[in-house]
Amino acid sequence: MNYNIAVIPGDGIGPDIVAQAVLVLEKVGEKFGHTFTLKNVLAGGSAIDATGHCLPQETIDVCKASDAVLLGAVGGPKWDTLPGDQRPERALLGLRKELGLFANLRPAMIFEELAEASPLKAEILAGGLDIVVVRELTGGIYFGQRGTKETDLGPAAYDVEQYAEEEVRRIAKVAFDMARKRSRHVTSVDKANVLESSRLWRRVVAEVAKDYPEVTLDNLYVDNAAMQLVRNPRQFDVIVTSNIFGDILSDEASQITGSIGMLPSASLAKGNFGMYEPIHGSAPDIAGQDKANPTATILSVAMMLRYTFGLTAEADAIEAAVKAVLSQGYRTPDLFTGQGHLVGTAEMGRRIADAL
Ligand code: IPM
Ligand code: MG
Repeated sequence: MNYNIAVIPGDGIGPDIVAQAVLVLEKVGEKFGHTFTLKNVLAGGSAIDATGHCLPQETIDVCKASDAVLLGAVGGPKWDTLPGDQRPERALLGLRKELGLFANLRPAMIFEELAEASPLKAEILAGGLDIVVVRELTGGIYFGQRGTKETDLGPAAYDVEQYAEEEVRRIAKVAFDMARKRSRHVTSVDKANVLESSRLWRRVVAEVAKDYPEVTLDNLYVDNAAMQLVRNPRQFDVIVTSNIFGDILSDEASQITGSIGMLPSASLAKGNFGMYEPIHGSAPDIAGQDKANPTATILSVAMMLRYTFGLTAEADAIEAAVKAVLSQGYRTPDLFTGQGHLVGTAEMGRRIADAL
């Protein structure tokens, strides 16, 4: 089979880690007899430098014509002083909206070999941790009405949080479908004690839950959820929440695993189309120095194979290869604690490809 993939290396360490993910993808192709046709396109700071715009139309067109998108990371200090609507990060929001990527899956799991890297006490994590944050990605305050106005207190600015029932329904279904294949527990996070949009959210999630009698639904206010994540993270299986709460909670969830350089993500549209990227950023301070951990991007490729292409054995093979290389003691600088073998970006990628 031939699969068309748009590749956006982006900025900072983006090109370093994407090169390794592509290496692994090619190895999977060889081993399992698939052809992956890759097309590189620009977004973010590198697109601003080359074209004057963070998300050129050509990029959108190529992504839309592909089966999936692989993205490294965007942004960096060089573009930090641009006005809000011209920053590299706008490219991400533009891609999400243009490609209809309403469902963002952010797994946070502990790799046994790296358990000591978590900032939480060992007894809190005993037995492991495996959470997926299902974040709504194309609605809410990120995309609501915004503007500035004069008030009694002088100039003011506003961003509107708004959710349509249908937006909540479709993300809730993603969460319940996911929970069905996991530990059958959904925690919906909102601020229904204060926000009207959260009350609608909570009501619609409860309606969707009726179609999933085998899945348990809990509701938590976001402040409590933030606390529970560090107090007792093992109570969570699937967390479903709004765009902004999901932004915050997914960073928190990833941090408690201690290995932000290990965690992939998927942003899915209706159907099988998806964009896949590591959850970490562009780390401009170590760009081009063979120091970045390519594993999150490599695991993002595994998610792509699993969710967009339905290639389960291939996805499993990548995940097993990552585990094998970790258990052999290979560590990029972000994971290195003095034991095992310190390796760079390229060697980590090559070892994972070789372990396939
Ligand atoms: C993320 C990032 C983005 C977001 C930024 C860079 C626009 O923090 O993907 O979590 O807020 O969604
Ligand atoms: Mg974020």
